[in-house]
Amino acid sequence: MDSLIIQGGTRLKGKIEISGSKNSSLPIVAAALMTTEKLTLHGVPRLSDIDSMLKLIGELGCHVYRHEPKNRSVGDGPDLNGPLDLTVDNEKNCEARYDIVKTMRASICVLGPLLAKRGKAIVALPGGCAIGDRPVDLHTRGLMKLGAEFRYENGNIIGEVPNGRLKGCRMYLGGAQGPTVLGTINVMCAAALAEGETVLVGAACEPEVWDCGELLNKMGAKIKGHGSPEIRIEGVDALRGAEHRVIPDRIECGTFMIAAAITNGELELKHCNLDHLIAVVDRLEEVGVKFERQNGTIFVNASRRINPIEMTTQPYPGFPTDIQAQLMALLSIGDGMSVITERIFPDRFLHVGELNRMGARIRKEGPTAIVHGVKELQGASVMASDLRASAALVLAAMAARGTTRIDRVYHIDRGYEKIEQKLNAVGANIQRIKGERAVA
Ligand code: EPZ
Repeated sequence: MDSLIIQGGTRLKGKIEISGSKNSSLPIVAAALMTTEKLTLHGVPRLSDIDSMLKLIGELGCHVYRHEPKNRSVGDGPDLNGPLDLTVDNEKNCEARYDIVKTMRASICVLGPLLAKRGKAIVALPGGCAIGDRPVDLHTRGLMKLGAEFRYENGNIIGEVPNGRLKGCRMYLGGAQGPTVLGTINVMCAAALAEGETVLVGAACEPEVWDCGELLNKMGAKIKGHGSPEIRIEGVDALRGAEHRVIPDRIECGTFMIAAAITNGELELKHCNLDHLIAVVDRLEEVGVKFERQNGTIFVNASRRINPIEMTTQPYPGFPTDIQAQLMALLSIGDGMSVITERIFPDRFLHVGELNRMGARIRKEGPTAIVHGVKELQGASVMASDLRASAALVLAAMAARGTTRIDRVYHIDRGYEKIEQKLNAVGANIQRIKGERAVA
């Protein structure tokens, strides 16, 4: 298990390329199961979660080929990686095994495509998760409304389409914590091949939902309103191949915005979409960060003073839960008391204990964390518990006095492409320890 050794106290300055979106690529790669023609995807990042999804669809009969990029390195434009060709050539196997599903919950994204295209799906139930309770009841409820039937056996969801083809209908898809992102995408995919019209009310509006809808429409689907709370889908008999570029990763971009703020730095973030981060920019401007936009590049200028603020996570376009931990790291050195409330995953606070090990003063009360800003953090040995918590620890370590060691960084490799190369290129001092051998 790799660790990161970070020397704090460096001010970041320079350019960072934002990679393609992990959370858009995962359901889009799964949507390749909905046709037997070739799908070519651009901008899909190289991450362990993407590798897991490619392995999964490979087992489900999809031929996967990644073109090698020509002589490219960090700083050479959005296509750090070559395009991905996905072609289904065998539709026999309909089972998503536990061994893969347990490594990545987004495996659930194959449920809708398999049911719609093959009329059958066996998907291991995703187990527990470090960020809190994550049921998939909204996914199955939506698919049942389209005519699928489910039973649960030996830890598997077994789904079938008794009438041979799903049938469109009008449905509400919201849950106790609001809309579901992957649930909306799963049902939207299934409805694309259903008979008749489906209207999804209470749909998630995340840019990743919009991006998947755009891809499906390129494949011949008839979808309107994707990216809004009401999606209309006119089912078609078959989908064809297509070529698509995934959207930039707004969570990676937001993480680097905070990297600039926490190190009192200046960063140019390239190939990102500021419109996808409006709530994040709103909160960071209140903290005192300055932003400028020029042709797809965002200039982020931090101020020495970090103002305390209040923030509540919400479904898009509200403040994303996936940037909550990173913002907490920033506010832990703020000039006063901040309040963070987590509405999407009320238990998503495993980073609190680790930040307190670095000298932060954070107290958790139910879904709220009270952050008393301290003058500075100190380097320490800490443990990553999940993807975004590990990103928060990297940010805190860059601001801290002295050396920090972060263990279990396999979490960060799930969602951040070449993070230490990107940050070291703008002045950070991060080393990765593979086993016990230091890698410069
Ligand atoms: C997506 O997960 C993202 N993952 C998550 O990012 C992100 O935190 C989340 O959306 C919220 O923005 C991917 O896109 C791969 P939800 P998803 O269904 O779709 C409850 C990261 O760090 N719920 O929108 O699984 C659920 O418990 C990851 O990159 C049900 O009750 O999240 C939560 O409270 C972590 N029943 C809320 O809805 C369901 O069937 C929102 O979850 C489904 C969800």
